[in-house]
Amino acid sequence: MKGFTLWFTGLSASGKTTLAREVEEILLERGLPVEILDGDVIRTNLSKGLGFSKEDRDENIKRIGFVCQLLSRNGVATIASAISPYAEARDSVRDKIDNFVEVYVKCPLEVLIERDVKGLYKKALAGEITGFTGVDDPYEEPVKPEILIESDKESEAESVAKIVRTLELMGLIPGADANKDFSDEEEEKIKQRLKDLGYI
Ligand code: ADX
Repeated sequence: MKGFTLWFTGLSASGKTTLAREVEEILLERGLPVEILDGDVIRTNLSKGLGFSKEDRDENIKRIGFVCQLLSRNGVATIASAISPYAEARDSVRDKIDNFVEVYVKCPLEVLIERDVKGLYKKALAGEITGFTGVDDPYEEPVKPEILIESDKESEAESVAKIVRTLELMGLIPGADANKDFSDEEEEKIKQRLKDLGYI
């Protein structure tokens, strides 16, 4: 199969890492070579020392994108999960990779503040952390992502199924039966999105 990069973008705690891991499991079950590049992990090695200024975030995304490029051109199903708040940085990664599939994990800030898995929103709102994405630092929404996940409205199973189905319809992974965790209406929406983007 062709390699590709599945690029998760969205605010902290939106569900990027969880979905990335679940998609990874399915792709592994289907016998594909898979690698995950997760922002939190990458920041402890490849991007160690980088902070959260625009410059550092762009550098982080550039590095992650570079590794994605190497892996995907060698047939690996590559999954990246990083806030990647700046559209220009995401688009320049897109330009370098043949099969780039952007997944926008959308979730309203109020819901994220309530979830606050890592307790970082609380700190950001209290001013203990500054420049926190979504609070006092920008997040530029993708305009035309291949996949739109609304993590406050859909179940994890539904989101994962939508992602996997999109990859199937794009011809990037082989199809499998029993992947129908969403409605026919949702299937139509997925197809319409891919048609609008000129993939099918
Ligand atoms: S990115 O902007 O460069 O794409 P990345 O995804 O690698 O960010 O890292 C985001 C993670 O770093 C968050 O999930 C959170 O755990 C942590 N973090 C620490 N400070 C910040 C901050 N100022 N803004 C966003 N995330 C932060």
